[in-house]
Amino acid sequence: MTTSFSLFTDLKDRISSGNARAMTVGLGYVGLPMALTIHESGYDTVGFDINETRVAQINAGEQVISYFPEDRISNAVSSGRFRATSDAAQIAERDVILICVPTPLDAQRNPDLTYVRAAGETIARHLRPGQLVVLESTVWPGATSGVLKPILETSGLKAGRDFFIGFSPEREDPGNAVHHTRNIPKVVGADDKASRDLMELFYGRIVDTPVPVSSSATAEAVKLAENSFRTVNIALVNEMKVAFDAMGVDVWEVVDAAATKPFGYMPFYPGPGIGGDCIPVSPAYLSWRARDVGSSTPIIDLARSSNDMAPDSVAARVAAGLMTERGIAASDARVLILGVAYKRDVEDTRVSPALAVLKRLEEMGAACEYHDPFFPVMPLTRDDPDLAGRKSVELSAENVAGFDAVVLLTDHSDVDYELVARHARLLFDSRNVFDARGIEVTGGPLIKV
Ligand SMILES: NC(=O)c1ccc[n+]([C@@H]2O[C@H](COP(=O)([O-])OP(=O)(O)OC[C@H]3O[C@@H](n4cnc5c(N)ncnc54)[C@H](O)[C@@H]3O)[C@@H](O)[C@H]2O)c1
Repeated sequence: MTTSFSLFTDLKDRISSGNARAMTVGLGYVGLPMALTIHESGYDTVGFDINETRVAQINAGEQVISYFPEDRISNAVSSGRFRATSDAAQIAERDVILICVPTPLDAQRNPDLTYVRAAGETIARHLRPGQLVVLESTVWPGATSGVLKPILETSGLKAGRDFFIGFSPEREDPGNAVHHTRNIPKVVGADDKASRDLMELFYGRIVDTPVPVSSSATAEAVKLAENSFRTVNIALVNEMKVAFDAMGVDVWEVVDAAATKPFGYMPFYPGPGIGGDCIPVSPAYLSWRARDVGSSTPIIDLARSSNDMAPDSVAARVAAGLMTERGIAASDARVLILGVAYKRDVEDTRVSPALAVLKRLEEMGAACEYHDPFFPVMPLTRDDPDLAGRKSVELSAENVAGFDAVVLLTDHSDVDYELVARHARLLFDSRNVFDARGIEVTGGPLIKV
């Protein structure tokens, strides 16, 4: 008990005085912004990643995340108090270790904690008394205490006595200029008071508002609740899109007007489906864990399958529009897909509904090409390896007019929509870009899908 207390006060002092040495394990979309924010808060910070190429790029000051200020990484590296490494031995030198590795779904669409387990095993080999280990990757309620903790305890050290452990969900919104790591309140949960207090103290120095909750499972559940809320509401608004369209009512106008209600309503906007490695994944974790403990989540499950079908529904509406407006079967059509990222202004095609629409149209026999300013060349991804290497078509009047239809799926800011409106022979808009911006479409008919 005495040992545990002195370990606690020692780490507390280090955090309070700004002398704690921090590490993120994983330098992806979550771990890198977090590592930089910790560094910018004054702590000596190391980012550990098994991807040596990424480590080298970061140490060379390269802007590996496109929406970062150009010099953010290079400034951090040149300060001498931030660096990336693939050397796991450096784990032992750190006081606070945040795990930010992927938590995808496996082939059966069940939670895949392989990366969390691997990261835990690496940390366990270097764990020393007095360290605080926080899991940030999205997991099901109970995983920090049931999966990560036993792995760390293979070190011979005991959680709550020799080292501290908790969970803090990531709320990063890539590309959002208003809400970023520092000003987004951060939920922190741990199963013992000492770990919780240390987390609140540490995160309180990193972000404006730490939000302590009573256990790691509660903090894990918060993340799943937030993303499941989005999942259900996106499914709902996409369902209303189709139903209102059949009634001759524009769903975007409905949502904007409904959003003027000052209470009890929150706007969600229609689109071609959900993407990224977060919103589609979290509800699956919740649903799986609910079944695991003998409960169920039928509303979430229905929303998930509805969202899964959204790209097919958009592709079907495009095929129907090609026939009614131009008398062309999808199998004979040349189609330009506008935007392949999973959402606006991000350089990320993981689980992108735009790619799902593209693939569905190609299954129907359409010849598809794409334009996306973030992807001059289509990257290699786990979900769509066959699309890798395709090149973005230049957005010229001649090129746009050369397609039978243009299908807008991702509404990036930096696209010449006026040009598209003038030259597309048939335009499908899944994001309401043209009406919302008051752009007159003169090249051909506009169909919202
Ligand atoms: N991307 C988002 O917007 C977002 C938002 C909220 C939560 N999350 C969650 O955060 C977690 C991380 O997501 P991400 O988008 O940063 O993933 P990512 O794929 O962008 O990055 C993960 C990084 O971890 C590295 N890595 C994998 N195994 C490792 C190991 N054993 N040791 C060290 N490094 C390892 C990979 O090389 C990669 O660079 C996931 O659980 C995700 O669901 C993501």
